[in-house]
Amino acid sequence: MSDEKAVTIPAQADEPRRADREVLLKVTGLQKHFPIKKGLLQRQVGAVHAVDGLDFEVRSGETLGVVGESGCGKSTMGRLITRLLEPTGGKVEFQGKDITHLGVSGMRPLRRDVQMIFQDPYSSLNPRHTIGTIVGAPFKLQGVTPEGGVKKEVQRLLSVVGLNPEHYNRYPHEFSGGQRQRIGIARALALNPKLVVADEPVSALDVSIQAQVVNLLDDLQEELGLTYVIIAHDLSVVRHVSDRIAVMYLGKIVELADRDLLYKSPMHPYTKALMSAVPIPDPRRKNAKSERILLKGDVPSPISPPSGCRFHTRCWKATEVCRTKEPVLVELRTGQQVACHHPENFADQAPQDTVLLAVAKEAAELVADEVLAESAETSAAVAAEVASEQAEPTEPTEPTEPTEPTEPTEPTEPTEPTETAKTEGQESTDK
Ligand SMILES: Nc1ncnc2c1ncn2[C@@H]1O[C@H](COP(=O)(O)OP(=O)(O)O)[C@@H](O)[C@H]1O
Ligand code: SF4
Ligand SMILES: [Mg+2]
Repeated sequence: MSDEKAVTIPAQADEPRRADREVLLKVTGLQKHFPIKKGLLQRQVGAVHAVDGLDFEVRSGETLGVVGESGCGKSTMGRLITRLLEPTGGKVEFQGKDITHLGVSGMRPLRRDVQMIFQDPYSSLNPRHTIGTIVGAPFKLQGVTPEGGVKKEVQRLLSVVGLNPEHYNRYPHEFSGGQRQRIGIARALALNPKLVVADEPVSALDVSIQAQVVNLLDDLQEELGLTYVIIAHDLSVVRHVSDRIAVMYLGKIVELADRDLLYKSPMHPYTKALMSAVPIPDPRRKNAKSERILLKGDVPSPISPPSGCRFHTRCWKATEVCRTKEPVLVELRTGQQVACHHPENFADQAPQDTVLLAVAKEAAELVADEVLAESAETSAAVAAEVASEQAEPTEPTEPTEPTEPTEPTEPTEPTEPTETAKTEGQESTDK
């Protein structure tokens, strides 16, 4: 983003208080399987596992960023939590109320509290309506008359989002992409919502405009006390505005962590790959130029997701246990939940499992040696840090580790990428 610097980073001073804030949205085991039907009788022959068991909470006033490659189920998740889609399984609670299967009338009051901003500001605004009509539509739908009348309120909303209130009678085509997205935001704010779900709100905009819209969302949050779920396909959009970030892969959350933790020490290999796909200026990593993890191939089909860890067909650390056993999303560090048997920057969760899968060996060749070396280094450093923090006198692994004959001896095998890859996990236990 060219004017990325202008993005204000929300104050972190109230960090400890976040845990005390009200849980606005709670999602448990959320699933959406789209049936695939065939033939004259429209028999169901399979299902797209678009969202396959999500658990998370969003607290009042926070921003949860949701990232992942295209097709991993982000939009479906957004539509499930705003109840534009009916879940196949699991539970959605809003302010403690179960809204999973509410009907149209039951949902009406909730429609005020939960709003969605869509990706495409070109198709989400009716071209035949003036922006006055568009922004004022929610009042009509809810049968609400704001103080001072609809027109006055719409004009106020337009100025809140940085548009000229005089343009009330203009049509969407008279506005630029960024301005149209502001119109969409004004419409979303009309009923004074509590939760705003923004699905790739800036993806369709020019890079130069993206930061302005992200900034606007950020300012509005502060002024109006909004709670956001902001969906994006990469980390560059959400990194400035999110308090926490959920990384999705094939319908699942693979990592859910406080923003700073995620950037400082990502634990899921997929998160790390996503991060290295975006050049992030980070003064702490001056030599990060060559750091790129290129994920091979596309996301596998959600119709028949890979067994075990769904990422095992593309992961450079995958071992047999990854293929057979699904890793559970667990809090490995305070504020950081990860679903991985061999997490980065932490002690290996399956240290006995040492044989890399063939696919991982191939993938490791794509991962630059510098990345693997740095990865191993950080893993070791963080594991040491964690160990000293939780210093347990009974820790048995430390004294036994050095005697192990397979102890990674990097200098002897610097050219073997798969070996180097493996040392990540091993290093991490080797404090
Ligand atoms: N209405 C639908 N019917 C069938 N499959 C769908 C439908 N909506 C989404 N999908 C599929 O669900 C998966 C997740 O889609 P989506 O939630 O749009 O992902 P994302 O927003 O992360 O790109 C994709 O494979 C997509 O093709
Ligand atoms: S190491 Fe295994 S469990 Fe972890 S992401 Fe890779 S394949 Fe999945
Ligand atoms: Mg989407």
